[in-house]
Amino acid sequence: MPRISLVNVAHNFIKDVLRPGDIAIDATVGNGHDTVFLLEQVSPSGKVFGFDIQQAALDSTRAKVQSHCRTGERVFRNVPLRPECLTLIHASHKDMAEKVPRQYHGKINAIMFNLGYLPGGDKNIITQTESTLIAINIASHLLSSNGIITILAYPGHHGGDVETDQVKNFCSKLDKDQFEFSIVDSSEYKQSAPRLFVIQKTH
Ligand SMILES: C[S@@+](CC[C@H](N)C(=O)[O-])C[C@H]1O[C@@H](n2cnc3c(N)ncnc32)[C@H](O)[C@@H]1O
Repeated sequence: MPRISLVNVAHNFIKDVLRPGDIAIDATVGNGHDTVFLLEQVSPSGKVFGFDIQQAALDSTRAKVQSHCRTGERVFRNVPLRPECLTLIHASHKDMAEKVPRQYHGKINAIMFNLGYLPGGDKNIITQTESTLIAINIASHLLSSNGIITILAYPGHHGGDVETDQVKNFCSKLDKDQFEFSIVDSSEYKQSAPRLFVIQKTH
């Protein structure tokens, strides 16, 4: 079976929901791939808020977006990326309710989490189960009707196994009158293989 990229699967789920003019959050900016993807979907008039605890991640993402804008390299639907649609926030995602302006609460159409450590960065700086669960809970309150949360979790690294189990546990306890929840496994069928959690607010 061909190896599937759960990042691409997460993007496909989000593409079905996110529209130009919408509002999205990248809860773990990292190298900025998901941030650029979200910007593509909401440009030219929407908004993306991006969180990371590492200033270096935010700086490289800002540079990546500006370079795409200068070169016109990423032009999606013939709409160029708009850097003014992006707000990068140097803070933990557990603080997103305070950092995202109140006017957007309940109106966020998509929220992405890509847990673990920054590829190519310091592997000791990883998402922590406690703050991850707080952030996902807050995210579920910020979501609009029909909004979506994707959480890509990696049980293969130290601490990632507990975090993945706890995320699953949290998702399975969500109010079923308000949320639908599904899990996509990678094709590896190993306990340590990444897992994608998808939460959709039904109303
Ligand atoms: C797997 S990387 C994200 C990859 C990214 N989405 C991309 O497209 O390149 C995880 C990121 O989460 C960040 N992170 C860890 N704890 C965090 C927290 N509490 N709040 C926000 N970001 C956090 C790390 O600094 C790291 O950059």
